[in-house]
Amino acid sequence: MSHLITLTKPDDWHLHLRDGEMLRCVLPDSARRFARAIVMPNLPTPITTTELARHYRNRILQALPCGSGFQPLMTLYLTEETTAAEIGAAKASGFVHAVKWYPAGATTHSQQGVRDASRCDRAFAAMEAHGLPLLVHAETTDPRVDIFDREAVFLDRELSPVLRRFPRLRVVAEHVTTQQAVQFVRAAAPHVGATITAHHLLLNRNALFDGGLRPHHYCRPVLKREKHQLAVLEAAISGDPRFFLGTDSAPHPRRDKESACGCAGLYTAHAAIELYAEVFDQAGALNRLESFASFHGADFYGLPRNVGQITLTNSPWTVPASIPVGNDVVIPFRAGERIPWSIVAECIQ
Ligand code: NCD
Ligand code: ZN
Repeated sequence: MSHLITLTKPDDWHLHLRDGEMLRCVLPDSARRFARAIVMPNLPTPITTTELARHYRNRILQALPCGSGFQPLMTLYLTEETTAAEIGAAKASGFVHAVKWYPAGATTHSQQGVRDASRCDRAFAAMEAHGLPLLVHAETTDPRVDIFDREAVFLDRELSPVLRRFPRLRVVAEHVTTQQAVQFVRAAAPHVGATITAHHLLLNRNALFDGGLRPHHYCRPVLKREKHQLAVLEAAISGDPRFFLGTDSAPHPRRDKESACGCAGLYTAHAAIELYAEVFDQAGALNRLESFASFHGADFYGLPRNVGQITLTNSPWTVPASIPVGNDVVIPFRAGERIPWSIVAECIQ
């Protein structure tokens, strides 16, 4: 039976848009589905200052399809050199909405990230004072820790001490993947939230080895076992306002994914809200999708909820096998496969 659902236009609270040709190719996918997105700063030259964020934002605005009202919400890339004055400038800009903590070496373009969080205390203090959220890639880089335990260990050893030193700091644990992370957020203060990706809701670590090695399912944090997938799903559909949508859509050229040392990231922006609709539908929780996708994040960031709408229907479509970008392609999530939900184009406002 055909089914229509209309949502307040959602926002994506964790998105990689890249730059140049890649930016121009992927941006329309997000702009079609979301009113706003928190744009990650991990470019090859990281966005470490408000000035760099201003220029990057202008490049995004220039790449937007005509007439799109999509708003990029910029972030700064935290380093051990980030000063309190830089945080003050970011807040004063009005277009920088958060600061991203990458543990050095944890993921794509994180080499200039943080090795010792205590060296960021001046920046944390300024963020706490200005109410500028800290977005955390919560995976320890300690090579002795099993890769599937790195999120839980990071929360315990590295994020907890920061929360104790800065109890009023607003924090988002990005792309949570484990029972422990869900528990961590539930036990924390109301100003500690979490984003959840569609792929961590749809997949568990079996998808990495399904019939062979699957580089297009490799992302960070790495997929976890099924009990963690279910814990994250339970959080997403629970109605708890501290959990909200963040796709972590992270496009890479195929040659970088299908490689002897393939890089991390899944491209999901081409079907982002449709994939969340699939998850919520399967869980019998479609009535909770709007608050997760359109309200909780805006409320957490202290931004107005959107006024436009988007309508979805349960009519399946087939994802293209690849998306051309320059002289390579991006392999989208579910390439060549079906997605049960689609957007009713004439109902986007
Ligand atoms: C992201 C990327 O490619 O920039 N990759 C990923 O696997 N999620 C970085 C990140 O968010 O970790
Ligand atoms: Zn990311």
